Amino acid sequence: MKRFEGKTVLVTGGAQGIGAAMAKAFAAAGAGVVIGDIGDAAGQAVQAEIAALGGESLYLHLDVSSEADWQAAIGLTLEHRGRLDVLVNNAGLGPAPAPIEQCTVQAWDRIMAVNARGVFLGTRHAIAPMRAGGGGSIVNVSSIAALGLGALMEVAYAASKGAVRTLTKVIAAQYAREGIRCNSVHPGPIDGGMLHGVWSDPTKLERRLSRIPMGRLGRMDEVVAAVMFLASDESSYTTGTELTIDGGAAVQ
Ligand SMILES: NC(=O)c1ccc[n+]([C@@H]2O[C@H](COP(=O)([O-])OP(=O)(O)OC[C@H]3O[C@@H](n4cnc5c(N)ncnc54)[C@H](O)[C@@H]3O)[C@@H](O)[C@H]2O)c1
Repeated sequence: MKRFEGKTVLVTGGAQGIGAAMAKAFAAAGAGVVIGDIGDAAGQAVQAEIAALGGESLYLHLDVSSEADWQAAIGLTLEHRGRLDVLVNNAGLGPAPAPIEQCTVQAWDRIMAVNARGVFLGTRHAIAPMRAGGGGSIVNVSSIAALGLGALMEVAYAASKGAVRTLTKVIAAQYAREGIRCNSVHPGPIDGGMLHGVWSDPTKLERRLSRIPMGRLGRMDEVVAAVMFLASDESSYTTGTELTIDGGAAVQ
């Protein structure tokens, strides 16, 4: 039996980057995967790729900042799959490095709406179906930006990821008795995904690598492996934890 056989896994931001890698890995491990994103063409391409490999998935248009979209997405998930076992709140907007004096209210609100409100809404709407199914696992994709490594962080991004870290612990404490676990992962700089363009600049890459004990960027599959561990029953006694995937950057 495959590791996620019979499970329904909803991955937000699954149309590209780390989320697409997760969607494919969960499908390969036997899960029925629901991919929610605003990038419809890319999301449908991931669904087709999974189908070509014999996996099961469903792409849904889901703007994580919209409560109406979440209600529709959870409804369709239950209609198609009958249950929800795992929610990976992965969708996110990247940092737009600028000092706070240049961060507008609009920029702050936009990043908070996707990165923080999106996780709040997803979690809020996942609880009832998970409870009905006897439990579940929520994995929130935060960042090492949430851990207070502030020198090079952009305030809105770091604050949004800090909100995700704290929300995770509150949910873990409040729903543990109902068999619903909630954990966060904190990637450092990953090769690919939203920072891809930054690392093609050799000066920026070298400066970043000098602050990573392992001396390299992370790989998407390393984030995927951590998320799958927290999503699976292998981590059945783990809730409210924060797992760094950062080559040791947080202890530098
Ligand atoms: N790449 C890194 O180095 C890194 C490091 C730490 C944390 N992270 C986190 O990992 C997660 C995935 O990042 P990535 O590198 O794959 O980024 P990415 O930009 O490649 O992918 C993000 C995905 O989220 C989707 N998205 C954006 N806004 C959305 C919305 N409102 N509703 C639904 N989907 C939306 C995008 O369409 C895209 O498919 C993010 O939460 C990010 O903050 C990434």
